[in-house]
Amino acid sequence: MEIKGKTVIVTGAARGIGRGIAEAFAAEGANVVAADLGSLAAKAAGDWNYALAAEAELAGVASEIGERGGSCAALEVDVADRASCQRLVEHTIEEFGRLDVIVNNAGIVQSGLVADFAESDWDRIFAVNVKGIFLMSQAALPHLQQAGGVIINIASVAGKRGYSRMGAYCASKFAAIGLTQSMAAELAEYSIRVNAICPGNIDTSMWFDHLSKSALRQRQYGTKSVDDTFAAVIDDLVPLGRAQTPADIAEAALYLTRAQNVTGISLNVAGGFEMN
Ligand code: NAI
Repeated sequence: MEIKGKTVIVTGAARGIGRGIAEAFAAEGANVVAADLGSLAAKAAGDWNYALAAEAELAGVASEIGERGGSCAALEVDVADRASCQRLVEHTIEEFGRLDVIVNNAGIVQSGLVADFAESDWDRIFAVNVKGIFLMSQAALPHLQQAGGVIINIASVAGKRGYSRMGAYCASKFAAIGLTQSMAAELAEYSIRVNAICPGNIDTSMWFDHLSKSALRQRQYGTKSVDDTFAAVIDDLVPLGRAQTPADIAEAALYLTRAQNVTGISLNVAGGFEMN
């Protein structure tokens, strides 16, 4: 698909990987809807183990893209809420008149042993990481069918292999890949392509506010700061020896939007950290 002039929704776009994807599509001339929790953050996330993005971060993405000459509207969504997903799609159509691509990027993480993992945390992870893809795709499909569109789901290398203390997150990302493959098979007759991207390790809030601290707690590397822990993980586990960036993931999203003969894949962007 030619990207210029198309409309793209990116969820979880207030920061991190989603923000990088929103910036990249805007730079290619797309009309971008940067969607995130905004004022819904406190209620939607409850007392989650790290802060999710609130209004200021969400507004900041749209204004920065606008300052660079891009087209971007910041809209609120809780991807775990059906009505909220439908409102987001309706507002997108009101704003830009069409919808061509959705990037289901919103996601959360909590690590811990299966033996004592809180059921409420399990449910929340699945509500955002899996049901969020289902609800957003269902809301978008009537419009994507008109546009012969593209769905991109941000899964993870944790959707290819199980890791200790990552049971809920890994299960949710395996589910995201399974859902990607089912939708790819179902929607091919409408020429809608559905693919997943599996990022490796990126220094976003997810890493710095949670995963590095968790790795520190496990004393896996004997490091004392989250920066040192992140560096130790990359050095130890990534063949190319460097972390990924939101721009790396955005590059893959642009490729999957353009690649007319590619559907149902789960593309690792992980420096060789995962090769399956
Ligand atoms: P992040 O925490 O910086 O960004 C996630 C965004 O999703 C936040 O802005 C948050 O407010 C938003 N969000 C959370 N719940 C939401 C909901 N119910 N509705 C709408 N928005 C919601 O994390 P990051 O790293 O940018 O994560 C983006 C995606 O990439 C996630 O799906 C994550 O699982 C995945 N990923 C991240 C990796 C990493 O190393 N950072 C590696 C592999 C995958």
